[in-house]
Order: sequence, then C-alpha cells, then structure tokens
Amino acid sequence: MQLIAHRGASGLAPENTLAAFRLALELGAEALELDVHQAADKELVVIHDDDLLRTAGRREMVRDLAWPELRRFDVGAWFDTRFKGEIVPGLDEVFGLVGRRAEIHVEVKAGSGRYPGIEGRLVEFLRRRKALKSCVVSSFDHKALFVLRGLEPRLRLGYLLGPTPLEAAWQEMEELRAESLNLGIKQVTSARVAAGHRRRHKILVYTVNDARQARRLKDMGVDGIFSNFPRLLEKDA
Ligand code: G3P
Ligand code: MG
Repeated sequence: MQLIAHRGASGLAPENTLAAFRLALELGAEALELDVHQAADKELVVIHDDDLLRTAGRREMVRDLAWPELRRFDVGAWFDTRFKGEIVPGLDEVFGLVGRRAEIHVEVKAGSGRYPGIEGRLVEFLRRRKALKSCVVSSFDHKALFVLRGLEPRLRLGYLLGPTPLEAAWQEMEELRAESLNLGIKQVTSARVAAGHRRRHKILVYTVNDARQARRLKDMGVDGIFSNFPRLLEKDA
C-alpha cells in the first residue's frame, strides 16, 4: 500500500509549504499530495483553503490577490513559530523542489467555474515540466476533470468521490478513464474496494493518521492512503 504525504508532511510542518514537502522527502515519502488554487494574476498556487484566514490570519481570498501579494503572508507561524517565514508556494516551486524524487498528486480545488482557464494552465504546466507521467491530477470538481481529460488524453486522473452516488461515479470514471477512486475514510468499505478493483481502478483513502487504521485498510486491499505522517506505515510508527 502506497503512502501519499498529505499536503506534505503536514502533521510535522505547516501544510502545503516548501518546509512540509522538503520534510516529507527527507522522511522517505515516495508520493506527495498538494492543493492548488489560482491567484488573481493566474499563477497556480499551493494552498488548501480559498482564503488566508486559517493559515495566515487574513480575510483575503486567494483569487483576489496576485501571487507577489500572496507571498507577503506568513503561512508557517500558525503551525509553530519555528516555521515563521514560510510562504504560499507556487506550483512551479514545489515541482522544482521535488523534481523526480516523488509522484505528485495535484488536487485542483476548483475548476473554471471559479478560476477561469485553470485546467488549461495546469495541463500546459505539466507538459512544460514533462510531468504527465509522474503526476496525478485529482478533484472533487468532476466538471474540471472532464475539461482536463478533453485537453490531454495522457493525463492521469484521480476521482474524489465527495457526495456523488457511487453508481454515477463509476460511470463518470469510465468516461474519464480515471485511474483511482479517492474516498474519505468514512466512505471506504471492503465491497467498494472490491468493486473498484473489478473495474481496474485503484482505491486511495484520505486522511489516515492512525497506524492501526492504516493496517486495516491495507488488509482490505486499499492501494494507497493520504497521511500527514510520512512514516506511518513503518513498523515502529
Ligand atoms: O486528496 C485527498 C484530500 O486531500 C482531499 O481533501 O480537504 O484534505 O484537500 P482535503
Ligand atoms: Mg487535498
């Protein structure tokens, strides 16, 4: 079972920062997950929420600020003062840091409905970075997944189920040629894992921070978990 470092090593460093991704790599993570939004100047930026309240104590929305403005905010100190000075990284910076050392799961937080043109910008970015093979793009925004698939047949796609009924999801996943169904921990059952495997999809589960729970999922046949702790699957963790 694969472990994907959720928002980097976000149990040990501030989520979605270079510090969190660097630490995940140091701890041996072979795959990382990050969240993407689009800034006012169309830059693709790595942050979970659509505003800065939780991580920077600011009321501004990401989409209203150009990246140079966004970069002025500290998104590290809320986690621990040791991380003061961490900023919202650009997607390009994270890819620069990671290189070929890990697979990257890029979660697009919203498609063109909120961020006009974001799908095309992401596809261009992945082509330029030659990262179509080493990267999986996932989203709860299934419309965005269809736009992405229309733009690039080689893209690897992950389908975040959210509230979509499972039967509708299987149908959409087939049309999308999505490689994985990504389920919340409360959504996973052995029957769903088996049904996904019959359809030749991987089942990935988020967010798993408990070692015993991880072992149960492994026994169920789950293919991968998103965890805030990159060493969760190691024997003594
Ligand atoms: O991609 C898995 C997981 O990251 C989805 O939820 O809210 O942590 O982005 P969230
Ligand atoms: Mg995410």
